[in-house]
Amino acid sequence: MQEQNVLILDFGSQYTQLIARRVRELNIYCEIHPFNNPPKDSDNFKAVILSGSPFSVRSENPPHPELSEIRGKKPLLAVCYGAQYLAHFSGGKVGQSNTREYGRANLSFVQEGELFLENISEGSQVWMSHSDTIKELPTNGTRLASTHDVENAAYKIEGEQTYAIQFHPEVYHTTDGKQLLENFLVKIAGVAQTWTPDSFVESTVKEIQEKVGSDKVVLGLSGGVDSTVAAILLHKAIGANLHCIFVNNGLLSKNEFTAVLKQYEGMGLNVKGVDASQRFMDALAGLSDPEAKRKAIGNAFIEVFDHEANQIEDAKWLAQGTIYPDVIESVSVSGGPSATIKSHHNVGGLPDFMKLKIVEPLRMIFKDEVRRVGASMGIDKELLGRHPFPGPGLAIRILGDVTPEKVNILQEVDAIFINGLKESGLYDSVWQAGAILLPLNSVGVMGDERTYEKVVALRAVESTDGMTADWVNLPYAFLQKTSNDIINKVKGVNRVVYDISSKPPATIEWE
Ligand code: XMP
Repeated sequence: MQEQNVLILDFGSQYTQLIARRVRELNIYCEIHPFNNPPKDSDNFKAVILSGSPFSVRSENPPHPELSEIRGKKPLLAVCYGAQYLAHFSGGKVGQSNTREYGRANLSFVQEGELFLENISEGSQVWMSHSDTIKELPTNGTRLASTHDVENAAYKIEGEQTYAIQFHPEVYHTTDGKQLLENFLVKIAGVAQTWTPDSFVESTVKEIQEKVGSDKVVLGLSGGVDSTVAAILLHKAIGANLHCIFVNNGLLSKNEFTAVLKQYEGMGLNVKGVDASQRFMDALAGLSDPEAKRKAIGNAFIEVFDHEANQIEDAKWLAQGTIYPDVIESVSVSGGPSATIKSHHNVGGLPDFMKLKIVEPLRMIFKDEVRRVGASMGIDKELLGRHPFPGPGLAIRILGDVTPEKVNILQEVDAIFINGLKESGLYDSVWQAGAILLPLNSVGVMGDERTYEKVVALRAVESTDGMTADWVNLPYAFLQKTSNDIINKVKGVNRVVYDISSKPPATIEWE
């Protein structure tokens, strides 16, 4: 637990995580907790933010948390539903808006001082997303701002450090949103801006040392950003007691295993590279259903990893690169509290029989913070900027059954595409890219010969978290060159297509 902590009570808004990210960008530590399961001890929190929600206070059973320990005792900022909730349950009135307000609005009246004490002025653009509106302010409420359509766009409750805003300060389109959060947290609530990658490293190293002591810890490296940063943090804390295992499942990108293993060794990590390609290929033999392939790979990984972990005498802990979005318990919109925590994607949920205690040094930070923490510990920029890569690797990019020949073809194609992106300076502007080997042949002509060979698809998407994505408008000249290179250099491929589907309705991977 950090000293200067802000509590975000989640009412199920799609933007709750964004609030947390904005607060962290201000170098302030914060945690998200569901409104119906708040932390028992609120003493550690210097300020509280209530999130928005898909609920209406006028619905049958609106979220109605007990705030007696918080309201009037700690600085409180209520956003959207939070603002309506405060009004509705404190003597005000909330009704349906005459005009549903979604999108852009401008502050048409701002009371100087208070939330708007710095750098936010009349006309400032804010982003609205609500169909209810606050018709009457709660008892002791004073209006601080309006927009053209929303009279009570911001208010405060006299005699308390309680503020409420109808718009969303956390979204990019609220131009001064971050400033407003800073005004509330720093100027009004007096929270210190001490949350930096360096301070995170320092406190986490201490926590790991206290938790793990002189025990041995096992960690599975994947070549990705999260497991690498987790490893370096643990290494800083416990040195050679960290035992890393890097499994080659034979489904990585071309030359990845040797190159990344070398990189890890260069970082001083105690790492064992295990080439289990054949075992994975055997497990995949004859399988063409995507979920069956995933399962086979997951099981093979567990067997290999468990075997290797058992070679490390007295290992007591298993370290994982789980990050905050995997951990946050969001409120289920479809009713009732939900406590579904996603099982970690890459590790595939290691089984109980491993009998190891779990340590997850990144469980409270977001992906962009993982990168900042990595950079502050001197991890190579190129490694930190790597695209996400699925745990089952190329097996889910070879549609249908997987054979060593197909893996070879796809590795070659993928390398041409990815290296091309790097050489053209496009790699960093793409969130994820890869090639897919389609389970069909097409007719072509090379020289005077008729060919009947494989088709590959190229996929490049922009996204922030992989939940939604859009295809990238790569320059025609780049696509033209890449296609030529692939067809000329990779034997067995005579056609290249580019995937122009967004997610949803498509997904990023084809399987
Ligand atoms: P989809 O295809 O669901 O992918 O749009 C979203 C993100 O998740 C990755 N992905 C996986 N990662 N194991 C993983 O570790 C998997 O089975 C898996 N399936 C998809 C995908 O690469 C993208 O980043």
